[in-house]
Amino acid sequence: MNVFGVDIGGSGIKGAPVDLDKGDLAAERHKVLTPHPATPEAVAECVRQVVDHFDWTGPVGATFPGVVRGGTTLSAANVDKHWIGTDAVGLLGDRLGTDRPVTLLNDADAAGLAEMEFGAGRGRSGTVIVLTLGTGIGSAVFVDGRLLPNTELGHVELAGHDAEKRASSHARETEDLSWKHWARRVQRYLCHLEMLFSPDLFVLGGGVSRKADKFLPHIEEVKAEILPARLQNNAGIVGAAMAARQATGSLGADASGA
Ligand code: BGC
Repeated sequence: MNVFGVDIGGSGIKGAPVDLDKGDLAAERHKVLTPHPATPEAVAECVRQVVDHFDWTGPVGATFPGVVRGGTTLSAANVDKHWIGTDAVGLLGDRLGTDRPVTLLNDADAAGLAEMEFGAGRGRSGTVIVLTLGTGIGSAVFVDGRLLPNTELGHVELAGHDAEKRASSHARETEDLSWKHWARRVQRYLCHLEMLFSPDLFVLGGGVSRKADKFLPHIEEVKAEILPARLQNNAGIVGAAMAARQATGSLGADASGA
């Protein structure tokens, strides 16, 4: 079964039909640059362009880099503040039309769903924490495979700072930190989360998961197992499509756009 997934990020809005049996894109993804300012209206228009690119009809899952409850976006750490309190599902639904029903969820929750089904967390029970280390830090917490949504663990306090300001991939780049130096920050962050949640497994995602050999060997003090994410760049798209399938249930997807 194919369902459409869109990942709304700070630099790009990317989407593709997803083959949910394989957990992979069914066609090469299409990307448009995120507009600046990234207001809800401007971003919704970009989402429409991405979905139109494939002439897609059927359910659409979309990610958002902030808290999403009942279709309303409630935070905006790294995006335009107009998103706070926006009925985002209503807005996207108006743009896409009734034959393309929209499901919206937090970006890290989407990536986590995909990792648990098709990636590093597959078949894992107990407490699993999936973290996306990018511009910010996103989190998805699972207990026996069930997601606790909107956990926002990137914003716990670390050494007197918002954790994502210290341990995100963005912090490594802007402060020009060595992999070892940055790994020590990530380690401190993981130890803090370990103290709070005692997870069985951490899955580390985001672009840096491709460079795991550069920083994972420097993380020695964490008791839980640590694995790099496997789906990398497409985890958000795949997870968004999974959420849309779940939300639309047996209505099924019209794969006409694939
Ligand atoms: C946001 C999260 C998001 C993460 C990754 C954080 O700043 O608060 O909601 O998942 O960035 O985009």
